[in-house]
Amino acid sequence: MRVGVLTGGGDCPGLNAVIRAVVRKGIEVHDWEIVGFKNGWQGPISGDSRPLGLDDVEDILTRGGTILRSSRTNPYKIDGGVDAIKATMAAQHIDALVAIGGEDTLGVAKRLTDDGIGVVGVPKTIDNDLGATDYTFGFDTAVSIATEAIDRLHTTAESHHRALVVEVMGRHAGWIALHSGLAGGASVILTPEREFSVDQVVKWVERRFEREYAPIIVVAEGALPAGGRESLLNGEKDAFGHVRLGGIGTWLAEEIAERTGKESRAVVLGHVQRGGTPTAYDRVLATRFGLHAVDAVADGDFGVMVALKGTDIVRVKLSEATAELKTVPTERYEEAEVFFG
Ligand code: F6P
Repeated sequence: MRVGVLTGGGDCPGLNAVIRAVVRKGIEVHDWEIVGFKNGWQGPISGDSRPLGLDDVEDILTRGGTILRSSRTNPYKIDGGVDAIKATMAAQHIDALVAIGGEDTLGVAKRLTDDGIGVVGVPKTIDNDLGATDYTFGFDTAVSIATEAIDRLHTTAESHHRALVVEVMGRHAGWIALHSGLAGGASVILTPEREFSVDQVVKWVERRFEREYAPIIVVAEGALPAGGRESLLNGEKDAFGHVRLGGIGTWLAEEIAERTGKESRAVVLGHVQRGGTPTAYDRVLATRFGLHAVDAVADGDFGVMVALKGTDIVRVKLSEATAELKTVPTERYEEAEVFFG
């Protein structure tokens, strides 16, 4: 059997751990040939692939990024894209694909399964916003990086009696903001799920200053001020219709400075959250996902995604996983509110 593997969408720490597990188990246990497709769905469309042997994955467990590279290519937005994938699979004798990605990559995987291609999905995203899995790999690493940044910002904020606004990733879901904000002892956490009042933020900030404490405000890039709009970097959209967000942190820092008379600075963590080596937790989760994806392929169980439920890895339908984004529930946000101000 020949099995293709690809990584699509924004990269995240742990992708190489999945690839390594798929190659290792595919070859050692099943005697399969594993083929790596380059640059997300672009690889199967253009036929750009390379064989992956044990040597190719020997030293990649700890490496961030993806040895297969990634892209946000959407075959359903390219004329003849799906037929090209079918042609590549026939020409390269590929029996099944393992697609490692988030909502967009796995949304394509679901549609390809409906169109007769055997795909098994593996959930990745630092945003942790995929449905039907308790966690995606990459999230723990992103939260650790953001938390370390917040820890460092506390000391410099204190020295200068400043408010520091930290903008973290999270387009539609505030998981990184919530977890790093809780772990880092933020004075305010703002997420895309709940519009915020600038007046209220200013009250919380002032309360902290009254207690001689320099406040840290963690804001997700997709957070919205009441009645306001998303802060866009530019008007461009990717192949899945997503705009590029950014700027809410700087805007909020200026509002805070103006309304409180205190100095305020913004820090945008950006792609630092996605780079570098995965945490031990993400290495283990990604490895287990890869091993279980191989089991699904071996069983001919396509149209599924491997998922974490409690401590078990299970299979769920790709349709269930991509039906809706997993956003931060109100009760989780309310837990954190006790620390605001
Ligand atoms: O989906 C993951 C993510 O990191 C989002 O949090 C962020 O909005 C987006 O990707 C940025 O992607 P890029 O700059 O790679 O297009």
